[in-house]
Amino acid sequence: MEVFRLLFNFLFLLPFIKAQDYNVINFGAVGDGNTDDTQAVRAAMAAANHSHGGRVIFDAGYTFLTGCFNISSNVILDVRGKILGSINASNYEIIPLLPFYGNDTHDGGGYTNGMTKQPLVYSYNANNITITGGGVIDGNGPYWYDCRYKDQPPCAPYGR
Ligand SMILES: *[C@@H]1O[C@H](CO)[C@@H](O)[C@H](O)[C@H]1NC(C)=O
Ligand SMILES: *[C@@H]1O[C@H](CO)[C@@H](O)[C@H](O)[C@H]1NC(C)=O
Ligand SMILES: *[C@@H]1O[C@H](CO)[C@@H](O)[C@H](O)[C@H]1NC(C)=O
Ligand SMILES: *[C@@H]1O[C@H](CO)[C@@H](O)[C@H](O)[C@H]1NC(C)=O
Ligand SMILES: *[C@@H]1O[C@H](CO)[C@@H](O)[C@H](O)[C@H]1NC(C)=O
Repeated sequence: MEVFRLLFNFLFLLPFIKAQDYNVINFGAVGDGNTDDTQAVRAAMAAANHSHGGRVIFDAGYTFLTGCFNISSNVILDVRGKILGSINASNYEIIPLLPFYGNDTHDGGGYTNGMTKQPLVYSYNANNITITGGGVIDGNGPYWYDCRYKDQPPCAPYGR
């Protein structure tokens, strides 16, 4: 009887259970805009993935300098502060070209051997992703733009 009631409560309450929180600071992120928080950010994303979803929080008042990371299914990316793209090319994985890139060689073959650099915020084969929070995702565009058009390392041969 007791067990039955517990089971009933569990099933009934299931849809109302809040997504678990994963604050990147709890995974070692510093958020001072200078420290490389890539590993901490990826660890938080991996923890959310491990529990099949959750809310990954980038708190207000911080700037998290990070390389690329993947968002898995059922993850809420809660950007209250700022995510700033690292300018360290090693912090960006090399991944196979996605179909939507087409056979784009207008920039002189930057997409070499069917590979390219992973975008800063990336997701593949996932569903039910939310990006919210009212903060900022800053890819550090001017740095990469210059890098690309001057065609020199670290942009060549990837990342263009
Ligand atoms: C992200 O996922 C892709 C597969 O879609 C993988 O190739 C890449 O290494 C992953 N990147 C990171 C930073 O884990
Ligand atoms: C999530 O975890 C699964 C199982 O370990 C793994 O195959 C997948 O690459 C992970 N996805 C991301 C985005 O980390
Ligand atoms: C979508 O993800 C959110 C956050 O993890 C979760 O609360 C919700 O149950 C998910 N919805 C579905 C249909 O899986
Ligand atoms: C760039 O990132 C790589 C891999 O995370 C790291 O080993 C290297 O020390 C970083 N370089 C700089 C200049 O921070
Ligand atoms: C890219 O080029 C190859 C070889 O010419 C062709 O088979 C393929 O369909 C092309 N892909 C796209 C997305 O246009």
